[in-house]
Amino acid sequence: MIEFTIDGKTVQAERGESLLKIANAQGFRIPHLCYHEVVQAYGACRLCLVEVTQTSHGRKRTKLTTSCNFPALEGIEVVTQSERIGRNRRMIIELLLARAPKAKRLQELAAEYGVGKVRFAESDAECILCGLCVQICRDVVGVDALGFTGRGVNKDARPPFGEPSKECIACGACVEACPVDCIKMEETHTMRTIVRWKRTLPMRVCEECGYSFAPTFQLMHFAKKTGMSLDDFRVCRDCR
Ligand code: SF4
Ligand code: SF4
Ligand code: FES
Repeated sequence: MIEFTIDGKTVQAERGESLLKIANAQGFRIPHLCYHEVVQAYGACRLCLVEVTQTSHGRKRTKLTTSCNFPALEGIEVVTQSERIGRNRRMIIELLLARAPKAKRLQELAAEYGVGKVRFAESDAECILCGLCVQICRDVVGVDALGFTGRGVNKDARPPFGEPSKECIACGACVEACPVDCIKMEETHTMRTIVRWKRTLPMRVCEECGYSFAPTFQLMHFAKKTGMSLDDFRVCRDCR
């Protein structure tokens, strides 16, 4: 365990743990969009800025850094709010809002941090390129259905070649993770559609109660990973 300070308060943590994670657990509020504790911090949105002061050979150096991917180190001094942080954070929100002007979460952040009129050319994108869907699909679900396509303003998180996904099992994990809610899911009794990836798959219906509880492809994926049989999922959890 090591000790350092956040806004003057001494905290203890494991060396190397994410500063953002520690700060959150200690009740400090640092805005963030692309951090999710189930995957490696990618540092994409840059919203979680803090100032970190380190002392080396008797000299103090302060730098502005993203906190999600900055490791806890002995003796550092972390500041979560300052004029410099606020100014940079407002600029980041403005840039994100220029990319995805209809994103409600960004509009809320803009209101909270006093970002007025956006001075940059607005695009009609919905995705802020945080990469969470790509990482979660690959590293947590184990499907790897998504990646980044295109360049510059045309860059986007998509299935390969922007085609309807052939790999997606419609588990919905990316839907839950997207910080700007741009991956929509639609469901009927028998089908589930992940709208953004143009993937529609049948749902497994419980043979006992008739409740449709998961996409059949998701259950097949799970069965393959665990060595179970699809027959083990003939009924829903409640009827088991
Ligand atoms: S819904 Fe599809 S793309 Fe999203 S995490 Fe699940 S498998 Fe991957
Ligand atoms: S679709 Fe959502 S989760 Fe995926 S990269 Fe874009 S903003 Fe992030
Ligand atoms: S949450 Fe740290 S860069 Fe996005």
